[in-house]
Amino acid sequence: MSASLSRRSLLALAAGSLAAPRARAAAGAKLKIGLLLPFSGTYAALGVNIADAMKLAAREHGGKLGGREIEWVQVDDESDPAKAPGNVNRLVVGEKVDILTGPVHSGVAMAMMQIVRQEKTLTIVTNAGAQAVTGTLCAPNVFRTSFSNWQVSYPCAEVMLKAGHKKAILMFWNYSFGQESMAAFKEGYSKGGGSIVKEIAVPFPNTEFQANLSEIASLKPDAVFVFFAGAGAAKFVKDYADAGLKGKIPLYGSGFLTEGVLGAAGPAAEGIKTTLHYAETLDNPANKKFREAFKKATARDADVYAVAGWDTIQALAQALDKVKGDTGAQKELIAALESVRLDSPRGAFRFSKAHNPVQDIYLRQVKGGQQVVLGVAQKGAEDPAAGCNLGK
Ligand code: BEZ
Repeated sequence: MSASLSRRSLLALAAGSLAAPRARAAAGAKLKIGLLLPFSGTYAALGVNIADAMKLAAREHGGKLGGREIEWVQVDDESDPAKAPGNVNRLVVGEKVDILTGPVHSGVAMAMMQIVRQEKTLTIVTNAGAQAVTGTLCAPNVFRTSFSNWQVSYPCAEVMLKAGHKKAILMFWNYSFGQESMAAFKEGYSKGGGSIVKEIAVPFPNTEFQANLSEIASLKPDAVFVFFAGAGAAKFVKDYADAGLKGKIPLYGSGFLTEGVLGAAGPAAEGIKTTLHYAETLDNPANKKFREAFKKATARDADVYAVAGWDTIQALAQALDKVKGDTGAQKELIAALESVRLDSPRGAFRFSKAHNPVQDIYLRQVKGGQQVVLGVAQKGAEDPAAGCNLGK
């Protein structure tokens, strides 16, 4: 824990904010939900979709959860880990939110974990895939409705090997999520006999890819596996095609590479295969209802980020109903969340013992400007949750 956080926590203690959660839940009071999300920068569209889907789902529950009217408090985290302790404290200590949600960026999530573990704030991680959230830093009061890094990256190795791609180049934004994503991919790839020709780490959020793409062209790997997301992913996909690599060296990634960027990337994205726990073309009634409602409310197409926002509210609705909105009854609320079962737009959803989703991972391919599902890359994928022991 940082020295400044210690001082803040002492001040908070003096002000009574470290009191047991039960003391915070005033009967009939509004339910304060904090949203720690990027509303600016390369991940802005991701944050906006999560927030909009949460608010839409809440409206569908009559603007109330567990009988309590919702008050939203949102902070733009700018996807900046350095600003995360201050931003989290604003919501947890300053605003005393009942429930904290977000973030998108794994580095922000790591800083958030330090504080919410100490303050025992009920927290739902709505995107960040850092392994530690439901691994070494797992906590009874922390759940995740999105994915772990391992879940979306590991299965792609087998997909590439099955396609006969034995020599790969890895390229990624060089922060915790990118590093972990490559580690999970390499675990599967080396197990299956694949070898890595080169790893190219790009500082986050740089999007100057040309020199690296020239190097890829000269090294001629069988395929390339990458992590980029949001606006940076759209730029990468276009630059890859402009560099003449499309159609010559197959491009793969976790699904963030093509998620929510097909409009911006256009024909350059055609043919790219990715692994992810969602695809817009999934043919199930929950997905149809969700996509129609999101389009009507926002005039935009829903994506995997919106799914996490939507499911966050569905999970909270089920659990808060069970405890009649009493967020102070944290033990009971946690037990209620643990027993949540969702008919999610992504398919069946439940939380693992480590509080990470257990979910199918799909192999998708961009065809005709859509993510078409080619099959299930991993059925009921459950993160190994290394280092997590919640005593169950
Ligand atoms: C992350 O930092 O965890 C992340 C950011 C964007 C998309 C997926 C994961």
